[in-house]
Amino acid sequence: MESTHLPLSLASIMEPAYAANPYALYHCLREKGPIIWDKQLNCWTILGYRAAMSVLHDSHFSAQVFHDDLSEATQSLQDQYAPLLSILSHMMFLQDPPHHTRLRGLVARAFTPRNIEAMRTQIRQSTQQLLEKAHVEKHLDVLHDFAFQVPMKVIVDILGVPHEDSKFFLKWAHDLDALVQEVPLPLAERIPLLQSISECIDYFRRLIHRRQKLPQDNLLQILIRAEEQGDRLNKDELLGTCILLLVAGFLTTSHVISNSLYALLEHPSQMRLLRQHPDLLPQAVTELLRYDSPIHEVARRATCDLHLQGQQIGAGAQVIISLGAANHDPEQFPHPDHLDVLRAENRPLSFGHGIHYCLGASLARMEIEIALETLLQHLHNPVIEEAEWESGRALHGLRKFSLSFD
Ligand code: HEM
Repeated sequence: MESTHLPLSLASIMEPAYAANPYALYHCLREKGPIIWDKQLNCWTILGYRAAMSVLHDSHFSAQVFHDDLSEATQSLQDQYAPLLSILSHMMFLQDPPHHTRLRGLVARAFTPRNIEAMRTQIRQSTQQLLEKAHVEKHLDVLHDFAFQVPMKVIVDILGVPHEDSKFFLKWAHDLDALVQEVPLPLAERIPLLQSISECIDYFRRLIHRRQKLPQDNLLQILIRAEEQGDRLNKDELLGTCILLLVAGFLTTSHVISNSLYALLEHPSQMRLLRQHPDLLPQAVTELLRYDSPIHEVARRATCDLHLQGQQIGAGAQVIISLGAANHDPEQFPHPDHLDVLRAENRPLSFGHGIHYCLGASLARMEIEIALETLLQHLHNPVIEEAEWESGRALHGLRKFSLSFD
């Protein structure tokens, strides 16, 4: 291939050609180095594992990167959505210490190993129930009837949302995902998304109001108490945290379940190995998270001039850390595009690294393990009927995926 045909920017990820396999693009870009200046996106892109670890670990890189620029919108639209943007900017993954430390400390109370373990039986039961209908029909819409449902039930329980309201969550989670991606959509496409997220925020406002009158024992109640105690948590932080848990805990886990099942169907020998040795599941989940994880990019901003692996990063520069590329860096993972559930020394960056390391990682791992174990037990001779990848979104995953089985 001539060098003029090589993709020059991470923005090419929006092209449908890379939807199923963005790793080909990452390898091409990494040929120019582990840290490259992306002219088109006007930011630094980190493609190497070691460089990604350094940035995520370094307090000179700030997580305060959210800016939904509404300057092209009319004044009345700017006024209408300013409170919403303020709430979104209060989500903890967009905050630095000390605000981040305080928010994380509050939410972490709900994610103790004991609390997570207590959810195991419930998750196991609901995953079994989800497959009962599919068993009759010998057909499974993997996304809608299974992968979306497992984490949805968990997040709804954590937040104490009435189960009948969970039907709204899928759209809100998708809309929020589309809104916060690194390559922003045109304004005309962002406005309906902002409207949808406003409805989500109104929903949580009403739920919080109800729970203040009729308390329940769940994470939302812990957060409401912290808000009522005054200086621990303000209203925007409370709402921002509800929204964050919805988006962070739901689509991510759904996509890992479906991406992993797809990967195993594409690698029948690995699937056989897991069926024969279910005890390998925990390490297989690590490998599946590395092989095709849902969050491919996180962003940071340099707070001062910095040197990183031979590059000069100026104060204020935007940095995109490609977790997807880091997880396929051949310097860290031999034969990175190969799925190997027995891979040794496997420490992917799928849950991030440093102070923003995913708070729900243990919970997500438990959900994925149970979901895959249940699928492997129930799906005999599965055959893919339809599979289509979502292109150009912040989350990497399938938008259609169904199969038949015996
Ligand atoms: C943060 C991935 C599931 C809650 C993160 C980050 C990543 C990530 C990469 C770091 C973001 C950054 O550095 O900017 C994932 C993946 C999941 C998953 C791949 C599924 C497999 C969950 C679940 C929950 C959750 C189930 C909770 C119910 C959070 C929270 C943060 C976070 C609260 C922010 C932590 C902080 O800023 O300190 N996640 N996540 N995640 N995740 Fe997850």
